[in-house]
Amino acid sequence: MTTAEYSQKLDTVVTELKTALQSATSSETVEALKTEYLGKKGSFTLLSKQIKDVDDKKEAGQLLNTTKQTLEDMLATARTTAAKKLAWIDLTMPGKKPEVGHTHPVSQAMEEITHIFEQIGFTRVRYPEVDWDHYVFEALNMPKSHPARDEWETFFVDAPVDNQMGKMVLTTHTSNGQVREMERLNSQPPIRMINIARCYRRQQDATHTQMFHQFEGLVVDKGITIQHLKGTLDYFAEQFYGPGTKSRIRPFHFQFTEPSFEVDFSCQICHGTGYLDDAETQKCRFCKSGWHEVGGAGMVHPNVLKAGGIDPDEYTGFAFGWGIERTYTLKEGLNLDDIRLLYSGDLRFLHQF
Ligand code: DAH
Repeated sequence: MTTAEYSQKLDTVVTELKTALQSATSSETVEALKTEYLGKKGSFTLLSKQIKDVDDKKEAGQLLNTTKQTLEDMLATARTTAAKKLAWIDLTMPGKKPEVGHTHPVSQAMEEITHIFEQIGFTRVRYPEVDWDHYVFEALNMPKSHPARDEWETFFVDAPVDNQMGKMVLTTHTSNGQVREMERLNSQPPIRMINIARCYRRQQDATHTQMFHQFEGLVVDKGITIQHLKGTLDYFAEQFYGPGTKSRIRPFHFQFTEPSFEVDFSCQICHGTGYLDDAETQKCRFCKSGWHEVGGAGMVHPNVLKAGGIDPDEYTGFAFGWGIERTYTLKEGLNLDDIRLLYSGDLRFLHQF
């Protein structure tokens, strides 16, 4: 083979690689081409072995060297271009927003409840969530060893007992705020408080968590009657659950109210009918015959007013209290059947709110 013929073959390899590199955009393709041309079985390598057939070996050797250099230079340039492409940023592309959290559904419910009651003149107050037996039980007409105390599955705190205040407990209900509020106002009504706080009980199942939240309303003034209580409950029902929601009170017993009631709200799923269809064949599985049991209420017991230094002959009052988790999960569209999910920290669940 003449040197000219050999030179032409080498030129073809250079042109081929040039064309191939034009469409090589990533460094991986550039490296693959390097193997294809300069690797053990690469086209340049194979061609270099043909030197033995060329007449002028000295000249052919020089040609081989310069060609190899050209190929290597081309590959190096392509490598740099590919790397630059990788670092290229399109400034016109819409940015990625950092994920922002939101308030927990229970906090949202607390804000909403506070707002609803503020509209009718209630003030939100906060009282200790670890409190004395006195405020949690004794002042609420539950003397020591009264069986009514058993209803509250109490956690006791391992702390010194106070002569007057008794043991320290984790608050089992927000009713501890009642006498505290009377004292804060120096036993001078009017009182319109809404007390929202954590409560604790030794219970854990699908409808109970050991830590939960309650809200407590207390109104004390001259001439307060059950009608005021019922009006307040109806107002809350419509505001929180939507227009048309009704409240219902049923006789019950609590030590700190007389008379006492259990409070129900009409179910928004079946619109209080108890059935999911017009023909009334399918019972509503979310409620009991069109109603949800939510909490307790009543007219403040004279002994409780007395414990707060208020004269029961001059003033009367009503109170109500119930769990936020339960109240909230009954909202239309939620219908959570396991409230423990609220505290699971599962983002797939929390993202929905
Ligand atoms: N404290 C009661 C409970 O946890 C609920 C309750 C009932 C609160 C009657 C009240 C009330 O203010 O008047 O079960």
